[in-house]
Amino acid sequence: MDKDLRLKLAVQKSGRLTDHSLDILSRCGLKISRGKDQLIAVGENLPLDILFVRDDDIPDLVQEDVCDLGLVGLNVLEERRLEMAARGQQAQFQILRSLDFGRCRLSLAVPEGFDWQGLQSLRGKRIATTYPAVLARYLAEHSLQAEIVTLSGAVEIAPRLGRADLICDLVSSGSTLVANRLREVETILQSQVVLIRTPVKLSEFKEQWITRLLLRIDGVEQVKESKYIMLHAPRSALPRIRELLPGSEFPTIIPLEGSPDKVAVHAVCRENVFWETLESLKGAGASALLVLPVEKMLS
Ligand code: PRP
Ligand code: ZN
Repeated sequence: MDKDLRLKLAVQKSGRLTDHSLDILSRCGLKISRGKDQLIAVGENLPLDILFVRDDDIPDLVQEDVCDLGLVGLNVLEERRLEMAARGQQAQFQILRSLDFGRCRLSLAVPEGFDWQGLQSLRGKRIATTYPAVLARYLAEHSLQAEIVTLSGAVEIAPRLGRADLICDLVSSGSTLVANRLREVETILQSQVVLIRTPVKLSEFKEQWITRLLLRIDGVEQVKESKYIMLHAPRSALPRIRELLPGSEFPTIIPLEGSPDKVAVHAVCRENVFWETLESLKGAGASALLVLPVEKMLS
């Protein structure tokens, strides 16, 4: 296969981001054939193949043009950027989009019995982490001296093993902290998934497909919370009902055959529609309420 004719996108092999990454690509229309434990999945209907790798390797794969694109957490990207900066190098990957998944935070967490009195309590302590560069910058910014214990994983058990006094690790649902009786005390970085691309100029064909993919991703992100809502209402109730429709500017008003005082209202709501909203709409006179998911949108 010609390198100029197929995009290669790096995705986390197995972990928090894998399913969501594949989901957004499938919503963009990509169909892949993937055998279990395969390193590469070939796009069947688009010139785009997926490479499954460790998330920590994604920034370098994209930077070194092994892959054209990558979906990776800002946490991993930021760590790599700072690590390179410390060696006098400049990171080359470009962020194309921030996506609405993989949200988590890098936080400091202390074990039971740790007397946390604020950031000052960090002085002279040993902090275990897999994000030494981000942590080092944070400590420097706050003029704090502490020892960074760099680990490659299982950070949450470091205090129990006596290897550290506290930890600095990713928190998503918080269940890892709870399971290890650790208490989150300070957030040092907010993260979500970003789409990155290689700094290398690609073939015209590939550049065009990246543009198309971005348009589709924007469409997918737009419809995620959007709902199509339909209802009947007395004309007199329209002003109130328009106020109640969440995030919709111009509803379509359609006359109802045989009942001059009533209309049908159709609207795309760019926010989720909750039961409370439906109840308020009903209270304002609406009837025959119907809420449908929006699958695709192109403006
Ligand atoms: C992070 C972190 C914790 C877990 C926290 O690992 O190291 O183990 O997620 O999630 P929780 O708050 O929902 O329990 P990650 O998924 O990034 O895996 P990796 O560090 O092996 O890449
Ligand atoms: Zn990782």
